[in-house]
Amino acid sequence: MSPGVPGYLTREAPQGATIDGNYIPPYMQVGIPTWTMHRSPEVYPEPQVFKPERWIVDSDAELQRLRSAHFPFSTGARGCIGKNMAYNSIYLIVARLTFLFEIESRDPLPLEFHVKDHFAAGEKEGPFLKFTPAITI
Ligand code: HEM
Repeated sequence: MSPGVPGYLTREAPQGATIDGNYIPPYMQVGIPTWTMHRSPEVYPEPQVFKPERWIVDSDAELQRLRSAHFPFSTGARGCIGKNMAYNSIYLIVARLTFLFEIESRDPLPLEFHVKDHFAAGEKEGPFLKFTPAITI
């Protein structure tokens, strides 16, 4: 919902190319914004709603379908080289935070998360969370 690189990463075909029947002239820049791709209503019904359980599915086919529009690290030859390291860091950080804290939203969750489009997203406007120690160490 709040991809680190929300905008579109351009690619160009030096000799031109055809994508889904649309001709792309030589050197024209094309791309799909990650933010938009992740909100495809055909793939993610109610795309504006924070619903992580949409990823809990019964079949590989359904998982493939969900993954077909999910590219926070881009893809292909120039996709993020640090993806696995980033995922491992995220798993550790989220596991540690949820172990140590009760996390709640300070304000009602907005329907839309606002992000500023940088190559790597900079300042964001919320969601703002309050962390309360869940255990005494
Ligand atoms: C949540 C964390 C991260 C996100 C969302 C992210 C996202 C991205 C994206 C979208 C690209 C552009 C790929 C393209 O143009 O198709 C990229 C490229 C790249 N990322 Fe990451 N990245 C993350 C973490 C990391 C980490 C931890 C490293 C290094 C340890 C890293 C190293 C790189 C490098 C070197 C490239 C350029 C690859 C190339 O042009 O061949 N990234 N990243």
